[in-house]
Amino acid sequence: MNKLIQKIKNGTVAEIAKELKWIFQLSKKYTWAIVWYVLLGLLGIGATLCSSVISKNIIDIVTGHQEGLILLAAGTYIAMQLAKIVLNAITGNINTRVQLKVNQQIRADIFGKIMNACWEPVMGFHSGDLLTRSGRDADTVASSILGWVPTFVVNLIQFVGTFLLIMYYDYTLALIALASAPITLFTSAFLTKKMRKHNERMRVIASDMTSFHAEAFNNVQSIKSFGVVDAYSKKLNEIQQQQKDAVLEHNKFSILTSSFLSTVAVIITAITYFFCVFRLWKGHITYGEMTMFLHLSAVLSGAFSALVGLVPTTISAATAAGRVMALTELPAEDCEPLAEVNQTLSSGSCSVHIHAEDMEFSYVSGNTVFKHAEMEAEPGQIVALVGESGGGKTTMLRILLGIVEVKKGKVYVCDTKNNTVMSVSPATRRLFSYVPQGNTLFSGTIAENLRIMKPDATDAELEEVLRTAYALDFINELPQGMYTYLGERGGGLSEGQVQRISIARALLNNAPILLFDEATSALDVKTEKALLRNISEFRGERTCIVTTHRPSVLTACHRVYRISDESIKLLNQKEIQEFIMDS
Ligand SMILES: Nc1ncnc2c1ncn2[C@@H]1O[C@H](COP(=O)(O)OP(=O)(O)OP(=O)(O)O)[C@@H](O)[C@H]1O
Ligand SMILES: [Mg+2]
Repeated sequence: MNKLIQKIKNGTVAEIAKELKWIFQLSKKYTWAIVWYVLLGLLGIGATLCSSVISKNIIDIVTGHQEGLILLAAGTYIAMQLAKIVLNAITGNINTRVQLKVNQQIRADIFGKIMNACWEPVMGFHSGDLLTRSGRDADTVASSILGWVPTFVVNLIQFVGTFLLIMYYDYTLALIALASAPITLFTSAFLTKKMRKHNERMRVIASDMTSFHAEAFNNVQSIKSFGVVDAYSKKLNEIQQQQKDAVLEHNKFSILTSSFLSTVAVIITAITYFFCVFRLWKGHITYGEMTMFLHLSAVLSGAFSALVGLVPTTISAATAAGRVMALTELPAEDCEPLAEVNQTLSSGSCSVHIHAEDMEFSYVSGNTVFKHAEMEAEPGQIVALVGESGGGKTTMLRILLGIVEVKKGKVYVCDTKNNTVMSVSPATRRLFSYVPQGNTLFSGTIAENLRIMKPDATDAELEEVLRTAYALDFINELPQGMYTYLGERGGGLSEGQVQRISIARALLNNAPILLFDEATSALDVKTEKALLRNISEFRGERTCIVTTHRPSVLTACHRVYRISDESIKLLNQKEIQEFIMDS
C-alpha cells in the first residue's frame, strides 16, 4: 500500500496535481471573470431546460393533452432561444478578453523570468524550446483557465439539472440515459496515462521543430556555403516523420476509443428512443413529454461528454503548465540595487579598480576554468587577457559582469574616489560596459542600436561615440547615415563595421569600466591601435579590459595577463615580447 502511495506521489498523478495547482494559483487573479463566466453559463443552462419544458407544453397544447395559451408559450420559447444567443455572445466576449489577458500576462511573466534568471540554467534550453514554451505552451495554459473550471462547473450543473428534470418526469428513463456513464468513465481513466505520454511527446516534437527552424533560418548563409541544404532538408523530414508517427499512432488510438464511446452512445440513444416510443404507445407519456425526453437525453449526454472531454484538456493543460513552470521556476539573479553602485555612477567616478584574489571557478557542468587565480586592473589602464582558445578569457569577463559566480576567493571593484568596495554581482553590472565576442547588433537603425544604452542620447552624443570608435566616417557615407536600417545581427554591414558600432554603443553607456571581448578582432591593425588609444582617453580615465589573440593589440596595453592552466599570470616586458614573437 505504502509503495502504491509513493508511486502515486512520485509519478504522473503527483506531477499533474502540482501542475494543476499552479494553474489554479494563476487563475485566482481572474476569479471574477470566472465567476461571471460560470453565472452566464448557468443562465444558459436555465434557458436550455426552460426551452425544453416549454416545447413539451407547446406540443401538449396542440395535441390537446394540456390547456394553455399557445401564443404565450411560443413567445416564451422564442425569447429563450434569443436569450441563449445573447448569452453566447457575452460569454464569447469574456472568454476572448480573459484568455488574451492571461496569455499576455503569462508571456510577459516568462519573458521577465528568463531575462532575470541566472544565466547558466537558461543556457540549458535551446532558444527554439524557449520559443515553444513561451508561445504554444503558454497559449494552452491560458485557454485552460477559462476552459477548465467554468466548463467543469457549468457542465456538472447542466448534467445534474437535466438528470433531475428527467427524473422528475420519469425515473426509469433517467437511469437509462445515465447508463453510459460508468463505461465512459472507465474508458477515460484508461486513456489518461496514454494521453499524457502523447502530449509530452508532441510538445517535445514541437520544440524540436521550432528549434530546427530558428537555427536553420539564423544560419542560411552557412548552410548554403557548406553545401548542406539537402542534409538540412533531410533533418526536417526526420522531425516531420517523428511528428507524423506520433500523430498517426495517437489518431488510431483516438479513433478506436471514440468509435467505442460513440457506439455506446448510439446504443443508449436507441434504447432511450425505443423506451420513449413504448411508453407513448402504452399511453404513459404524451407527445410533448417524448420530445422533451429525447431533447433532454441529448443535453444530458452532451454535458457528460463535455465533462469527460475535460480529461484530455486537463492533461494537455497540465503538460503545458509543467513546461512553462520549468521556466518560471528558473533561479532568479539577485539584482537588489546597491547604493554604492548608484553613488559611483552619479558621482561620475572613473577611479574604479578591479581585483581578483585567490579566485576559483567552474561551470555547473563541472568544467574548472580557474584555481587560485589573481588579477588586477587600474583606471586609465588597458589590461589585456591573452591565452589559447578555451583558456578562460570570456569566462573571466562573465565573472566580472556577475553573470557567473566564483566558487571561492574574492572578486571586487574598488571606487577610490568614493572609498567603496563592492564584490562583483549582478548589482555591480551597471559599472561595466561590455562588448561581447561575436555580433550583437539588433535589427533596427544604427541610432536605435546605440540608444538601447541611453534612450535619451542626442544625435551629437551618438556622433561623439561613433567618432571615438572610428565608425562615423563610414556611417556618414551610408545613404541615411546613422538612421540606416540594419537587418538582424547588423545585416548589411561588414564584421569590422559591426564591431565598431558595438564599441560605440558600449561607450555611450558611460560606465567606468570597459570590457572588450575580442571586440576589435576584425579591424586592421592601424585602426585597432588608434581606436584603443581613443578609448583609454575617452571622457576621463577608464579601466579597460580587452581579450585578444592579436599581438598587435599588446603594444597598446599597460598590462598583459596570460590565462593558461587554470591560472592568470602577469607577463613582464620580456614575456610579452616572447608572446608577440610566438603568435
Ligand atoms: N556555458 C559553459 N558551460 C560550460 N563550460 C563552458 C561554458 N562556456 C565556456 N565553457 C568552457 O570554459 C572554458 C573557457 O571558455 P572561454 O569561453 O572562457 O574561453 P576563451 O578563452 O574565451 O576562448 P576563445 O579564445 O576561444 O574565445 C572552455 O573550456 C569552455 O569549453
Ligand atoms: Mg572567448
